[in-house]
Amino acid sequence: MKELLDMNRIPQHIAIIMDGNGRWAMERGKDRSFGHQAGVDAVRRITSECTRLGVKFLTLYTFSTENWNRPADEVAALMGLVLTSLEDEIFMKNNVRFRVVGDRSRIPDTVNKKLAETEEHTAKNDAMTMVVALSYSSKLELTTATKQIAQEVKEGKLDVNSITEETINERLWTNFMPDPELLIRTGGEIRISNYLLWQIAYSELYFCDTYWPDFMEEDLHKAIYSYQSRQRRFGKTEAQVEAEEKK
Ligand code: IPE
Ligand code: IPE
Ligand code: MG
Repeated sequence: MKELLDMNRIPQHIAIIMDGNGRWAMERGKDRSFGHQAGVDAVRRITSECTRLGVKFLTLYTFSTENWNRPADEVAALMGLVLTSLEDEIFMKNNVRFRVVGDRSRIPDTVNKKLAETEEHTAKNDAMTMVVALSYSSKLELTTATKQIAQEVKEGKLDVNSITEETINERLWTNFMPDPELLIRTGGEIRISNYLLWQIAYSELYFCDTYWPDFMEEDLHKAIYSYQSRQRRFGKTEAQVEAEEKK
């Protein structure tokens, strides 16, 4: 499959909803946390493969604000995993910069400290940026940006008539990255679950049944191949897009 990929048209930003850890574990008669642990191995595998392919941003949905409602032991296990799996060495070896997006106020201090340290230590790495969406909610991100804009208008720092899409982009947690060209969801559900609603306005969507711990390099190649097989029209006609491509 990898041989079929057009290396000149690798998406620069891939976003993934890593779903299916719990079901993967249950099918093996294990605790859900065992699935999350296996999910970390998949993160390592897919991150390395993305750097090899030349992807520039990889955004991983790791924990949603809605996930705070899960049983306390599962939440604790997940936070523990975040702490133990953030190894500087792996980021340095792969020249990967680490960033977090989400509502940091709800994350425990010890975890926040580790996140900040990893962001700082890896800030100069430039092969790829791995963005972890943690305690993330797209609606909360948009609400926060809206409040900020309202405040700036109230204080006379911003003119209502000058507000553009860019004004909003700049106030989102994701303001340092381009929109994803490709969004992948593993685990069989066909929904977005409050992820990057604004940013995926024109992303290509790819859903697969594979549980996240089983997601292999080959599955990533399949998703990218599917992306490359589609014509992105951005509202234009097929003929218009073809004419532009010939130029
Ligand atoms: C995704 O796997 C990881 C998180 C939401 C933290 P799930 O834990 O949702 O796995 P399933 O969907 O229950 O199988
Ligand atoms: C979405 O998965 C969030 C993450 C993958 C972190 P969920 O398993 O929480 O989504 P729903 O509840 O099935 O929509
Ligand atoms: Mg799930």
